[in-house]
Amino acid sequence: MIQRSINGVSIGAIGLGCMGMSWAYGTPDNAQSVAVLRRALELGVNHWDTADLYGSGENESLLSQILPEVRDQVFLATKFGNVYDRAMTSHQDLVEMNAPWIVDGTPEYAHKCIDRTLKRLGVDHVDLYYLHRVDARTPIEETVGAMAEMVKAGKVKALGLSEVSTATLKRANAVHPIAAVQNECSLWTRDFVDTVIPACQEMGIAFVPYSPLGRGFLTGQIKSVDDLIVSDGRRNHPRFAEENFAANMRIVETVRAVARRHDATPAQVAIAWTLSLGDHVAPIPGTKRVKYLEENAVAASLSLTDADVAELNSITPASGPRYLETAMAHTNR
Ligand SMILES: NC(=O)c1ccc[n+]([C@@H]2O[C@H](COP(=O)([O-])OP(=O)(O)OC[C@H]3O[C@@H](n4cnc5c(N)ncnc54)[C@H](OP(=O)(O)O)[C@@H]3O)[C@@H](O)[C@H]2O)c1
Repeated sequence: MIQRSINGVSIGAIGLGCMGMSWAYGTPDNAQSVAVLRRALELGVNHWDTADLYGSGENESLLSQILPEVRDQVFLATKFGNVYDRAMTSHQDLVEMNAPWIVDGTPEYAHKCIDRTLKRLGVDHVDLYYLHRVDARTPIEETVGAMAEMVKAGKVKALGLSEVSTATLKRANAVHPIAAVQNECSLWTRDFVDTVIPACQEMGIAFVPYSPLGRGFLTGQIKSVDDLIVSDGRRNHPRFAEENFAANMRIVETVRAVARRHDATPAQVAIAWTLSLGDHVAPIPGTKRVKYLEENAVAASLSLTDADVAELNSITPASGPRYLETAMAHTNR
């Protein structure tokens, strides 16, 4: 596995998004997910990404089933800031958006979260602690100031921000070095390619593209929204909605054409494209299946040509926003 670096630590270029193991996508299967985590380490996929939000702590608890045995082999990243115990707590809440999405970046809440997270994970520190969303009512300097205290206390090794603009990143970085930015980025979400991604490179900060497979859409395996179970959170995503689905399938056709030339899969091409964005880019495709994990890991050795990248970069923008407006309101634009 080729390597990337976050906070001076060498990690597998392809990480593992753990969210879907417990929340939002399909039916959780903990035994299968633990098998994925074990196989991930055999493949060098040692950058694991979770959050307190995912299943209201269930995803962190799932990781705790294996962490005691493998803690020193894992670069462990988690997040706080989305108020998980008063917000969307079930798949159904997520689908119906029937609970408010609250963001809290106050120092008091931050300190409470890290202690609960360490307890749930069963570890004494995390390698990377992200603010999941910027709290519009709390100056970023205050939130990052609190996060810096966690570094001092040894609870956290490095700090990250998720869904952040370059301007906010610079303000935060002036308070304490930011090691990584995690924003949505994939062939159908290229919003940060000319902004936050080069800014991170200049500032020596890793960029972690989340949902690099377009929440599974770019793999071509989802043929219709009816392929998703009724409680699947993607039913709430505008790009999966009936009015946008067919138009977005045209994106998959281009990805598939590039994949054919390399005897690869669309998933591998989508991941390889994110890696082509720079040596500071470390994607975290999500899966709860060993088969997909193994397939995705191979993307680290897929070399796209300049012509492939140009063709992929010319893909028509996706039809539909990447989130509903209620969720877009919490992105730091
Ligand atoms: N910071 C944030 O706000 C934020 C937001 C969203 C996600 N994230 C993080 O980013 C990670 C990845 O994003 P994501 O899970 O939203 O989306 P993703 O990685 O773009 O796609 C995940 C979906 O693709 C499917 N999949 C994975 N590999 C596949 C393959 N080779 N062939 C066919 N299907 C495949 C998975 O299926 P199965 O589930 O069946 O395996 C899952 O449904 C998350 O797990 C989470 O850690 C962060």
